[in-house]
Amino acid sequence: MQNGQFLYQHVIEVINDMVSQQILEPGDKLPSLRKLAQQLSVSIPTVKQAYYYLEGQGRIYSKEKSGYFLSEVEQTTLPRRCKLATTPTEVNKQSLIEQVYEGIHGQHEAKFGIANPVTAMSDEAVLAKMMRSVLKQAGDQMLQYGAMDGLLKLKQQIAQRYLRMGLSVSIDDIVITNGAQEALAIALQCVTQPGDVVAIESPGYFGIIELIENLGLRALEIPVCPDDGLWLEDLAHALTQHEVKACICSTSINNPIGSVMPEHRQQSLLSMLVDNNVTLIEDDVYGDLHFTKHRAKPIQYYAQPRQVITCDSFSKTAAPSYRIGWMLAPGYAQRARRFKRALSCSSSLINQWVLADYLTSGAYDRHLKKLRLRLQENKQKMLCCIRRYFPENTRISDPQGGCVVWIELDKSVDGGELFNLAIAQGISLTPGQLFSATERFQHCIRLSFGLPWQDKHEVGLKRLGEIVSTIIKMSESK
Ligand SMILES: Cc1ncc(COP(=O)(O)O)c(C=O)c1O
Repeated sequence: MQNGQFLYQHVIEVINDMVSQQILEPGDKLPSLRKLAQQLSVSIPTVKQAYYYLEGQGRIYSKEKSGYFLSEVEQTTLPRRCKLATTPTEVNKQSLIEQVYEGIHGQHEAKFGIANPVTAMSDEAVLAKMMRSVLKQAGDQMLQYGAMDGLLKLKQQIAQRYLRMGLSVSIDDIVITNGAQEALAIALQCVTQPGDVVAIESPGYFGIIELIENLGLRALEIPVCPDDGLWLEDLAHALTQHEVKACICSTSINNPIGSVMPEHRQQSLLSMLVDNNVTLIEDDVYGDLHFTKHRAKPIQYYAQPRQVITCDSFSKTAAPSYRIGWMLAPGYAQRARRFKRALSCSSSLINQWVLADYLTSGAYDRHLKKLRLRLQENKQKMLCCIRRYFPENTRISDPQGGCVVWIELDKSVDGGELFNLAIAQGISLTPGQLFSATERFQHCIRLSFGLPWQDKHEVGLKRLGEIVSTIIKMSESK
């Protein structure tokens, strides 16, 4: 690393300069890996990493045995915007979700189906050491029930993290939960009754769709723009047509598209919801895994009490197995605490204690920094493989953080059929149908790059691209 910059970023800058000075023009061959490595006094793998990055962005492409070339035109290959739903819908997705869970949790060579960024780089040694030290310090106290709404020192650490983002919060507004999933469930129960309408992202995280089904709510799907989150114009229109009680979305980094909502749109979203008496439930689980320079502020930052409930967890950043999450619920905390008590009494004391120490020691922030870089590298490798091995008309999201890419395939490809064929060949993925409360996204899939990248993953993506091409060819010949 040089001056806080990674060497491959320097290589990218050199290529950018060559393009802006028209030393390189569309269609031109880029310098060979060896030549550029020599000229810049860096290693060949460093240049390769930069070329991977540029290829992942579609700015350059490779030809077998000929090298890399500058793309002719700026490719617009982002997934398309879907249509606004005209009516809210009851949800019936649970059995499909169960089938997919069963498939993706098996043994596979290439596990692209599970969004677990921690497997890309876990901090297990540090966490194990802290666990041992906590057991030593606290002894049998660790075996007791903890405080109903969470361990004070963990809540203090969480409050301090918000303060660093410019958000001053009261400890009393934080309720520790069993992961973000329980936080979302409690948040929904705080503000809705069965039969109520909840606006959700489309495509959106299937755990929320499953919750809506279980709580007897109705979903109203609002399209997500691949660049900047929920489509506000569509939401505004939907609010004139339906009485919506809550809106759940991720404005930091959403799952599965990976887009980030700019600040001015966050503020417009909030004021639109406030004007219509709709509570915003923000799902911020991927917020800390940003690839952008700064972390997006939670919408809570702009809100007054009772306008926003923020749900978050350590599942995507430290340890999903600990099942520790929280809600920040100004104006709803008392109600949330009661639901939490009725549901599960309290959350694991020992896991909260370890996390509190982990945060206090600074190890969590050090780990986050490394994890973000690893995920960013993985993203580039995955995008590069998809561009290389998938049919040309494939559309791919450009996630600004997190660990998943959203892929729109040719209309003739059914994500469910592809799922079955891929699983049979040791490759897991998540079919697009799961990300809609209705029947949308049949021809889409989500792939996770939250894994320790190895050659077998490139092989898996190549194989997956071949399966997709075969399905398309077969449908053309019918
Ligand atoms: C967007 C989103 N929200 C919430 C959750 C649930 O998180 P947790 O494991 O903390 O319950 C997930 C997990 O996959 C997720 O992707």
